[in-house]
Amino acid sequence: MPAQVPPAQSLPTQAPKPLTPDFYHYRAAPLEKVELDGSWVHLRWPDGTTLRCFDAWLTENSPNRGFDPVSRESVLDPKDVEAGSGLARAWRTQEGLLELEWTDGQREQLHPGWLRHVADNQHRPDSFLPAEVGWDSGTLPEPPTTDGSRVLENDEILLGWLQDLVRFGLARLRGVPAHHDFLEQLISKVGPIRATNFGSMFTVEAKVDRDSTAYTGLNLGQHTDLPTRETPPGFQFLHCLENTVTGGWSRMTDGATLVAELQRNHPQDYEALTTLRWVFFNRSPTCDHRWSGPLIDHGGPDQPLTIRAFYPVRAFPDMKPKDVPRAYAAMAVLSKLAHSDRFQIRFAFTPGDIVGFDNRRVLHGRDAFQPSDGSRALRGTYMDHDDLYSTLRVLTRKAESGPLED
Ligand SMILES: [Fe+2]
Repeated sequence: MPAQVPPAQSLPTQAPKPLTPDFYHYRAAPLEKVELDGSWVHLRWPDGTTLRCFDAWLTENSPNRGFDPVSRESVLDPKDVEAGSGLARAWRTQEGLLELEWTDGQREQLHPGWLRHVADNQHRPDSFLPAEVGWDSGTLPEPPTTDGSRVLENDEILLGWLQDLVRFGLARLRGVPAHHDFLEQLISKVGPIRATNFGSMFTVEAKVDRDSTAYTGLNLGQHTDLPTRETPPGFQFLHCLENTVTGGWSRMTDGATLVAELQRNHPQDYEALTTLRWVFFNRSPTCDHRWSGPLIDHGGPDQPLTIRAFYPVRAFPDMKPKDVPRAYAAMAVLSKLAHSDRFQIRFAFTPGDIVGFDNRRVLHGRDAFQPSDGSRALRGTYMDHDDLYSTLRVLTRKAESGPLED
C-alpha cells in the first residue's frame, strides 16, 4: 500500500532526531519512499538503496516502545513483541524520517540514518574492521610498523596499529619505552587482558624453574599458543625490554595463507588437518587444561579460523588408529610450509618494540639463543578478539563521525 501521510504535522520543525538503539551519531539520510505491505515496511532512499523491515523488528527498535532510552537495549520479551507489533500505518515525514503508527494508536519515529546503516550492512560483526589481507615473505617481509612513541596519548596512532593488526594479523610498534609496566598500561587501554595459567602478564626469559619451553633458549617451532583451550586467546603482545643475546630472532607465518596453499596444492593433507582431532593438554602440577580439535579448526560457518599447532602440548590422537599415520604426515606438511622461506618471515626484537599478532591465525616461533650470551626479556600478554574488535569499532566510528548531525 502506498505511504499514508497523516494530515497533522508529525514533528515540530526543530524537533530532535529520534533516539537510536545505540550510542552512535548518524547522518540524516532522509528517506524517499515508505510503503507498508502487510507485516513489512519497505524503505527506499533517493540513491535507490532499499531495506525491507519486519514489523516486530521495527517495534523492538522503536524509542519508547521497544528499547530503553537510557541503556538503549531492547526491553520487549518475544511474547510481547508479537502481540504489540501490529502496524496500522507507516509513512515518510517531511524531513524524511520513518514514522509508524501501531494499531493501539501509538506513534514513533525511527532515525533514517540508523536504518540506512542497516541497509548498508554496517550492522554486521565484520563492519568497521579492516578486511583480512593474507601475506607471505614476498608480500610482507617485515611486520607492518608504526612509530609508537606517542601511542598512549594519540588515538589515531593506536587506531592505525590496531587496524594493521587485524588486517595482517601482525603489527609492530617501535620506539615505545622499554620499561616493565608499559605493555600492561597500553593493552589495558585497548581492553581487558585475557589472563591464563601463565598469569595476566608474563615475561619470556630463560628460567631454570620453568613451566613452558618458551622459558629456555631453545628453538621454538612455528606454533600458536594455548590450543589447550576451547577458545585460545585471540591476540598476543610481546614487548621487548632487553635483548643482548645473539640469535633468538622471532619468526612469523600467516596461517590464513597456509590454509589457502593447503587447500589449493595439498587437498588430502588439508582434509586431514581440518577433520582429524588431537587432544591438547598442558602439563603442569597445578592446572589441567584440555581441548580436542583439528590443527586447522574452522569452527562453524562464519567462525574465525583457529590454528591449533603447538607440539609441546599436543598430547593424544583423538581419531581412529587407521587415521594416525596420515594425521602425522599432514602435520609434517603443515610444519614444513610454516617454516619455509616462502611463508615465514624473521626479524629481531629491539628494546622498545611491541609486536602484536593474531594468535589464532599467525604462527610464531623463535630461533635458538644462548642465555649465557646476555639478556633477552619479552613482556607478554593476551587479549580476546572480542575486546580488541570492540575498541577498534569504537575508535573507527569516532574517527569517521566528523561533523555529523544528531
Ligand atoms: Fe608461543
